[in-house]
Amino acid sequence: MAKVLITGASGFIGWHLAEALLACGDEVACLVRKTSRVDRLRTLGVRLAYGDVTDPDSLPAAIADCRTVYHVAGCTHALHSRRFYEVNQQGTRNVARACAQVSSSPVLVLVSSLAAVGPAPEGRMRIESDPPDPVSHYGRSKRAGERMAAEFADRVPTTIVRPPIVLGEGDRKGLDMFRLIDRFGVHVVPALGRERYSVIHAADLARLLILAAERGTRLAPGGLDAPAPRKGTYFAACNEHPTYAELGRMIAVALGRRRVAIVPTPPRAAWVVAAANELVSRLSRRSRYLNFDKTREIRAGSWLCSPQAAVDELEFSVAASLAQRLNQTVQWYRREGWLRAARAAEPSEVETVRPFDEATTGRLPKDTATGSRT
Ligand SMILES: NC(=O)c1ccc[n+]([C@@H]2O[C@H](COP(=O)([O-])OP(=O)(O)OC[C@H]3O[C@@H](n4cnc5c(N)ncnc54)[C@H](OP(=O)(O)O)[C@@H]3O)[C@@H](O)[C@H]2O)c1
Repeated sequence: MAKVLITGASGFIGWHLAEALLACGDEVACLVRKTSRVDRLRTLGVRLAYGDVTDPDSLPAAIADCRTVYHVAGCTHALHSRRFYEVNQQGTRNVARACAQVSSSPVLVLVSSLAAVGPAPEGRMRIESDPPDPVSHYGRSKRAGERMAAEFADRVPTTIVRPPIVLGEGDRKGLDMFRLIDRFGVHVVPALGRERYSVIHAADLARLLILAAERGTRLAPGGLDAPAPRKGTYFAACNEHPTYAELGRMIAVALGRRRVAIVPTPPRAAWVVAAANELVSRLSRRSRYLNFDKTREIRAGSWLCSPQAAVDELEFSVAASLAQRLNQTVQWYRREGWLRAARAAEPSEVETVRPFDEATTGRLPKDTATGSRT
């Protein structure tokens, strides 16, 4: 039985990882804040260690004796951009430094993000050796976090995993999209709708993180600027990369919706919504997900990454199709009351209303489907 620590286990991805590690028979400790909601974690039977990644003194005791530290904690939306850097950059530095201070350092698996390196180059998927080009404060803070971890790579065996959009049971960020389709049969597609997105279900991501800890390559001493900058880094994605419209239609099927209206919005509309949300955020002192920073990402093109390195080196494969994963997510949302209960006579066939033609959804040329590694 190996002792492992998860930071961010009270969040969406961390919770899935805790479940997966317990199923592997590991002894799981979770770093949580005094303010974290831990009721669901308690039912899993993990050990709780109290700390905050922005408080370096709270970390060494939690990390001592651990074979692996999964650093999942992160700030994904914030009222002020400086908060991204406090948590995602400085917090990661604190975790990596605490790992380096242990006499026999644990393996550190850092959950970064596709946003840390930016959208796909024109016409193909992003691969690990592509030069990074983050477009948002969130992305730049995640990249800065990677650099912080890399500073300790000579002492801490470190692997970075970069997920794209993560969906699954317990996800609140994507819930509004499910709700809109469920209640009103409407799916709003920002920008032009041609963009494609890599996605992964949180349970598949959890498996990939465990594989990365067990057999992943590690960052070279010298880190991300060493001669082999992709060593020790993996994208995490399934092999389906829908447009936003296609994702909406798949969700409609999972919801048992007969019709869904795909509503493309002009590119500028995202800025208008973001401006309104920024104003509401300032007034309510609560950050909202669709803000200026997120809009910069939405406008940046296709967010595609190739999972080939993880497939080749970690023997990673997803356990279910995207359609099955969406079904499972919808069932969980309904069971937990996050979506209303299913109507009795919901048909299984979905008829999609498409107010724009197929050319608008755009398809990637076949040869870009998996990406190639260099
Ligand atoms: N969800 C996605 O689509 C996605 C995609 C790519 C990468 N990621 C990355 O995956 C990680 C987890 O994302 P998520 O979607 O699971 O986010 P989440 O549900 O918002 O969870 C964030 C977790 O981080 C913890 N946390 C935040 N600040 C902390 C601090 N100062 N000290 C200790 N813990 C802190 C939170 O604790 P509290 O419960 O106390 O708030 C929570 O457990 C993040 O690093 C994110 O950048 C997510």
